[in-house]
Amino acid sequence: MKVCVIGTGYVGLVTGVCLAEIGHNVICVDKDEKKISLLNIGKVPIYEQGLEEIVRKNRDSGNISFSRDVGYGIKNSDIIFISVGTPPLSTGKPDLSSLDEVAKLIGKSINGYKIVVNKSTVPIGTAKRIKKIIKENQDNDHSFDIVSNPEFLKEGEAVDDAFFPERLVIGSESKKAIDIMKELYGPIINQDFDYARANSHKKEKVPVLITDSTSSELIKYASNSFLASKISFINEIANLCERIGANILDVTYGMGLDTRIGTRFMKAGIGWGGSCFPKDVRALSYTAEEYGAGANILNAVIHVNNQQRFKVVQKAMDLLGIIDDKVIAVLGLSFKPNTNDTRETPSIAIINKFLELGAEVRVYDPVVKEYPSDMDKGAVMASDPYKASDKADLLVLVTEWDEFLNLDYGKIKKIMRSPNIIDGRNCLCKKSLTDMGFNYKGIGI
Ligand code: UDX
Repeated sequence: MKVCVIGTGYVGLVTGVCLAEIGHNVICVDKDEKKISLLNIGKVPIYEQGLEEIVRKNRDSGNISFSRDVGYGIKNSDIIFISVGTPPLSTGKPDLSSLDEVAKLIGKSINGYKIVVNKSTVPIGTAKRIKKIIKENQDNDHSFDIVSNPEFLKEGEAVDDAFFPERLVIGSESKKAIDIMKELYGPIINQDFDYARANSHKKEKVPVLITDSTSSELIKYASNSFLASKISFINEIANLCERIGANILDVTYGMGLDTRIGTRFMKAGIGWGGSCFPKDVRALSYTAEEYGAGANILNAVIHVNNQQRFKVVQKAMDLLGIIDDKVIAVLGLSFKPNTNDTRETPSIAIINKFLELGAEVRVYDPVVKEYPSDMDKGAVMASDPYKASDKADLLVLVTEWDEFLNLDYGKIKKIMRSPNIIDGRNCLCKKSLTDMGFNYKGIGI
């Protein structure tokens, strides 16, 4: 099938390459000239395991091409995926200006029956909004259908999530569009394509939920908000563990043995960040309040998370007393391992707070090498974890990169001025660090 994907961020690029790999003819378009030039020479502008290799393979085979010309992409495709950014406005409401712009262009360029698939995470009712804008901008009567097909990919695991999803959600009011979408995703649904055959993650068959567009839009928001709620819940229990002398690791394990609860997304730490959870929980809360349905749980989930990252600062005060003039090494800038994404990362909020309190902060991350624009310019980027720790009064682990699990902590203890560690992800071994002579503080342990 002939597919156009508009927007080459995480979602658009991974969707495009996945559809190309299963045999479709895909044009990925983006107005960002730099991104398209990079993609045209086989380079991926984001850090995502396995993505570059598969982009190159499909570019070389001619299954995928990259262009800045949105009109060209629309005219030469039957199915158009919209995967442009919907960043939050200060109210929490998503900014739909890029999406509206794309809908206008589709209206202006439509030259035959098209299926317009929305992959961006959008407020409830956006499918209807896109339909209206396309119609208003059409100067012919070609028909089209709208589909809501949310993406559930996780950064760092995006390629596998696209090829081996736990479910596909197709929301549309058109039977014709639903049938074509099922055909488009046929190889994924049946797990019948070369990449799957070569990969151990292969599933039996992927469940497909067919629903209306509004329910489909809500599934995405409600799923992310539920996962964020699990984390805020367990973080609140971790905080209680510290007060009463319980151990969150045992508590979580004990809870998770009940399969109705499970252990996934129950890791206590310094809270959630990234490009999805913060934006989506806020947006769902906004919608729930806008419609008068109430958003008490969602608002509490956000509140707990906003406080959680600063627990680390409180622990630093407990260990160091006055923070002014202390040297603090921070390990990890990305919001989680295996990505270079620093959007809403707890790390930057913590670093900025330490700097505000007068500390000297050195930060190291295995892949984030560019200075994030929202990080206070006082922080120094160290070239390795040992340089960051040299003469430090405190080491704070913020992101659980594998590299940090295997550091030479004996050496780190020797080079630090005072052996204090805060493990914001409970990923280091408390006993061995304590035996080595570190003052160790985790979260709820
Ligand atoms: C998330 C959803 O998982 C994905 O389905 C959706 O499409 C996009 O949003 P992502 O933002 O890539 O994906 O990251 P994820 O792995 O879900 O982690 C989100 C945040 O929760 C991270 O900050 C992570 O550190 C935190 N987290 C996760 C915890 O604090 N504890 C956990 O147990 C799990």
